[in-house]
Amino acid sequence: MNQAARVGIVMGSASDMPIMSAAADVLDQAGIPFEMTIVSAHRTPERLMKYGSRAHERGLSVLIAGAGGAAHLPGMLGSLTPLPVIGVPILSSNSLHGVDSILSILQMPAGVPVATVGLNNAKNAALLALRILGVGDAEIQKQQLDHLAEQRDSVLNTLSKVEAPRWPNQQPLPPEAI
Ligand code: RP5
Repeated sequence: MNQAARVGIVMGSASDMPIMSAAADVLDQAGIPFEMTIVSAHRTPERLMKYGSRAHERGLSVLIAGAGGAAHLPGMLGSLTPLPVIGVPILSSNSLHGVDSILSILQMPAGVPVATVGLNNAKNAALLALRILGVGDAEIQKQQLDHLAEQRDSVLNTLSKVEAPRWPNQQPLPPEAI
């Protein structure tokens, strides 16, 4: 049975999909219903107006918007919706090394907030969306705590690669150090 989407993932072009699919992977793995579509701020402005102004009425909680070049999609969505918008700057074929996309999303004028993740980092956008949803949902918050513990363990499992003695003057880390 179809469940109501809680997160909306939008992007300016089908060419953004290889990057934005990482957000879908994270949400899907977390069991969060989401929707995905193309909304181009400059090529489909009417679609943008409709999507942005109706998103909250349809029960969505967070929007993730990816765009490259002069990436005005996330900011324009932010001007239309009361929902949190997370922007993903994309290194697209028309982008100046991604700097234009980053600054277009990051440098929103005061009054219209858009959270900005790193270049092409749709995974972090989805993780941030989960943290937002987790404020009101203990199960989602627990998933995020588990995720942090997994990351911690993945680092601790590699300690021997650095700590194994290689130099005559290298001392073992004393137990009280950490
Ligand atoms: C932006 O221009 C899109 O978000 C995409 O990143 C970039 C290139 O779009 P296409 O020319 O591939 O459609 O609007």
